[in-house]
Amino acid sequence: MRLLVVGAYDAQIGAASKMAKERGASVTHSPDIDAALAMLRAGKGADLVMVDVRQNIRKLTDALKEERFFMTVIAFGVEAKSEDAAAAIRAGAKEFLPLPPDEKLIAAVLEAITEETQSVIYKSAPMEKVIKLALQVAPSDAHVIISGESGTGKEVIANYIHRKSKRAGQPFISVNCAAIPEQLLESELFGHEKGAFTGAVAQRIGKFEEANNGTLLLDEISEMDIRLQAKLLRAIQEKQIDRVGGNKPVKLNLRILATTNRDLKKEVEQGRFREDLYFRLNVIHLQLPALRQRKEDIQIFTEYFIKKYSQANSVNPLPLSPKAVERLMGYHWPGNVRELENTMHRAVLLASGKVIDDEAIILSEESEQAAPGIAAGIKEMAMQSFVGRSLDEVERELILGTLSHCLGNRTHAANILGISIRTLRNKLKEYGETLEAEEA
Ligand SMILES: Nc1ncnc2c1ncn2[C@@H]1O[C@H](COP(=O)(O)OP(=O)(O)O)[C@@H](O)[C@H]1O
Ligand SMILES: [Mg+2]
Repeated sequence: MRLLVVGAYDAQIGAASKMAKERGASVTHSPDIDAALAMLRAGKGADLVMVDVRQNIRKLTDALKEERFFMTVIAFGVEAKSEDAAAAIRAGAKEFLPLPPDEKLIAAVLEAITEETQSVIYKSAPMEKVIKLALQVAPSDAHVIISGESGTGKEVIANYIHRKSKRAGQPFISVNCAAIPEQLLESELFGHEKGAFTGAVAQRIGKFEEANNGTLLLDEISEMDIRLQAKLLRAIQEKQIDRVGGNKPVKLNLRILATTNRDLKKEVEQGRFREDLYFRLNVIHLQLPALRQRKEDIQIFTEYFIKKYSQANSVNPLPLSPKAVERLMGYHWPGNVRELENTMHRAVLLASGKVIDDEAIILSEESEQAAPGIAAGIKEMAMQSFVGRSLDEVERELILGTLSHCLGNRTHAANILGISIRTLRNKLKEYGETLEAEEA
């Protein structure tokens, strides 16, 4: 968790930084927005920006958006001035943190923003095997491909490998190759020089450089365009990159982890993935089993998630009723651990009484299994309401509908949708703008 504090340094900011550090954040400080942007462009990444409410927050959020720095912005200031807080939120800050800093609030904010230092939960023999292999290869610098269905924990394992490696103290940078528009991915990965293309207002360091000496996770690598794969191969082979529009290669020391939910070998056979890149990356292959292939893990996961979400919602953790357990064990979990986590989150919120009963267990595909006829009818209805509409339109409806189903909880909604919180945030931002435009 990297926190960048923007604003004139004083004792209260010092105290807030200290609290964040005690919570494991690495904190950097810059006196104003220009200095902060310069730091970001230079590759000193941040996950969270905390900006003094007296700074021009709109300028900051606009610049971040313009230059595609995806991070959460939070404003801080003296509480008494409530108009300041409202103005900060209007200018694009996600929260307002009152000063003097409150330890609990800061912890809550950090927790909400970090995808937390993940514990890796498992009990089954197949997962034990995977973890053993992961631990074995972690200390080496070998590239690793992690494959498995969506929601099986590929990113969790990638993060684990980094933490168990010699590079643990160095950056762990992740790029979702599927989430970034193709024409921007090259500059996202390799950075660009000022003026390299329209919109390149300043030099920008890419993810490769940001991850130097550490680990770079190329998430969903199979989604990368084949032309860019050639450049990626070169970067890996020659251990250097060219920034877009640059004329001086930059030497790098990186370990690459890549995830995919496709069968890369098949992708190679069908000409969608370069064979040479495949061989370059595929030094070690970790294959994560689907949750339905390791049912022994379901119980330990449910306990873990009940605890986690009870804590997060300040309620007492309840045990599962035998009927609830039966439902969980009988389900085939197409969305794997991610789906189980969502289900348990919802169950914790829905449960009333002394146990979590089966009524609180809502499974997305259960109706299909139980009553195929009804399910087919629903499917047809759903198809009819989709056909004839653009993908964008349907996507927007799905996203907003899911968010409202989750009572506005973005983390939860992103999980259900199977997208990152970042992607969700960007989508909502997009919609917010069009909504504003429509209203105007
Ligand atoms: N072994 C595990 N221990 C704890 N949480 C897990 C584990 N595997 C998956 N998860 C949780 O399930 C969700 C999906 O994991 P993720 O690594 O994003 O999956 P993938 O990248 O394969 O789609 C995350 O919220 C993650 O915290
Ligand atoms: Mg993933």
